[in-house]
Amino acid sequence: MNAMKQCTHKPVHISRRSFLSRCAAGAAATGLPLWFVKAQEAAAQSGAAAVSSPNDRPGIALIGCGGMGNGNARNAMRFGDIVAVCDVDRNHLNGAVRQFTRNGKAPAAFTDFRRLLERSDVDAVIQATPDHWHTLINIAAAKAKKGIYAEKPLTLTIDEGRKTIQAVRENGVILQTGTQQRSSQRFVLACELVRNGRIGKLKEIHVWVPAGLREGPFKTAPVPEALDWDFWLGQAPKVDYVPQRCHANFRWWWEYSGGPVTDWGAHHNDIAAWALGLDGPTRIESRVITPPIPGGYNTPSEFEATLTWPNGVIQRVRTTPDDSPYGAVLKEDGQRNGIRFEGSEGWIWVNREEITASNRDLLREPLPEDAIRLHTSRNHMGNFFECLRSRKDPVCPVEVGHRSASVGHLIVASLRLGRTLEWDPAKETFVGENAADANRYIAREMRAPYDYSFVS
Ligand SMILES: NC(=O)c1ccc[n+]([C@@H]2O[C@H](COP(=O)([O-])OP(=O)(O)OC[C@H]3O[C@@H](n4cnc5c(N)ncnc54)[C@H](O)[C@@H]3O)[C@@H](O)[C@H]2O)c1
Repeated sequence: MNAMKQCTHKPVHISRRSFLSRCAAGAAATGLPLWFVKAQEAAAQSGAAAVSSPNDRPGIALIGCGGMGNGNARNAMRFGDIVAVCDVDRNHLNGAVRQFTRNGKAPAAFTDFRRLLERSDVDAVIQATPDHWHTLINIAAAKAKKGIYAEKPLTLTIDEGRKTIQAVRENGVILQTGTQQRSSQRFVLACELVRNGRIGKLKEIHVWVPAGLREGPFKTAPVPEALDWDFWLGQAPKVDYVPQRCHANFRWWWEYSGGPVTDWGAHHNDIAAWALGLDGPTRIESRVITPPIPGGYNTPSEFEATLTWPNGVIQRVRTTPDDSPYGAVLKEDGQRNGIRFEGSEGWIWVNREEITASNRDLLREPLPEDAIRLHTSRNHMGNFFECLRSRKDPVCPVEVGHRSASVGHLIVASLRLGRTLEWDPAKETFVGENAADANRYIAREMRAPYDYSFVS
């Protein structure tokens, strides 16, 4: 039995005076209404676990030592110790070893995640490989009984989501999906207000995501000496090495990801689904606005999609019509990276910088005692480590990660087919006239040996 499971933790108690001053400071710092900050603080206090003592810090492994993985692991070091790292690029691996060496003790280094998962000193993994590797590694980690902080989008396909849920639940492990906006108070406030009818009957949701990259054609190049290109490709088709397919740029290729809609879209579509409280849309219509350059990135940099939800709400998902590269934030109102909820009695706009409404009173007025409240987490990584101890579901458990990723995968299927699709969210199958073609996108062929047998 590992140290994590043996620990017991007492709740943290603070005085009423310091509680109130903490709330006032929180409201002043965030611009959020005081009533909401108080409710959040109170909920957080009741469930708070004490910070781990030096003797019960969980062992953490980082799999995928790129941009996000390194950032996640630095964040996770507040809660545990990085004992192992893994990457198929030895340059990234060596960089992580250097970065996470503490007091002369280097983390153990691996190029095959399966060997890393055999270690008994690893309690939890931070999984930040490209999207096409998420599922096999998450399933292997679940089978090895490790807690998993799983980067978004949870999967590459809808079928992978079902298999991930099965592995996580059968093995009784904690999985937090890396859609960290669920732990941001602005987004929680927006979703709680919408759920409780603060803007009247919800009519439309507008999601804006930054446009993707439109570049190419690209040339092949010799595989860098430090990179295991075949392992990096994994389940995806074997192709010659092209630098723009690999590190960080994988997100602009269908083979490894889904373009803007599974990148930023994984965050904002997750928030839209949270506000709706529904499993999935029933109709998906889409249009490519800017087609890719032949021989270049093959996901369209700009697109728009219209989703119909079972309660009649229309959700429009669009890229910002800005030709500046990834990460662009448009300055014009209503066309910036973020989400706008429109109801019969007003609107709420929310993104990572602000929350605004058609009338400021929509935010100022407290929700009643019996209002629907959503899960409270103010630190996504912290919530994961708390749940490793409490064995409760985190704020973004595997089922939620799967359903939110599915919204992106449904839009991808419509964009790739160039057709309007109908979806049955309960049966998780396409229906209607395009069902046969669309259902081919629910799963993808996996190149041997990187199929499910690789982790069985
Ligand atoms: N939550 C967020 O806000 C957020 C932000 C950025 C990225 N992400 C997600 O994080 C993931 C990684 O994105 P990134 O931008 O850091 O990519 P990256 O290319 O910088 O890093 C990925 C790393 O994984 C390694 N890798 C590939 N296959 C591997 C394997 N089989 N085993 C071990 N290592 C392997 C690569 O060599 C690379 O070092 C993506 O799924 C992305 O969507 C999330």
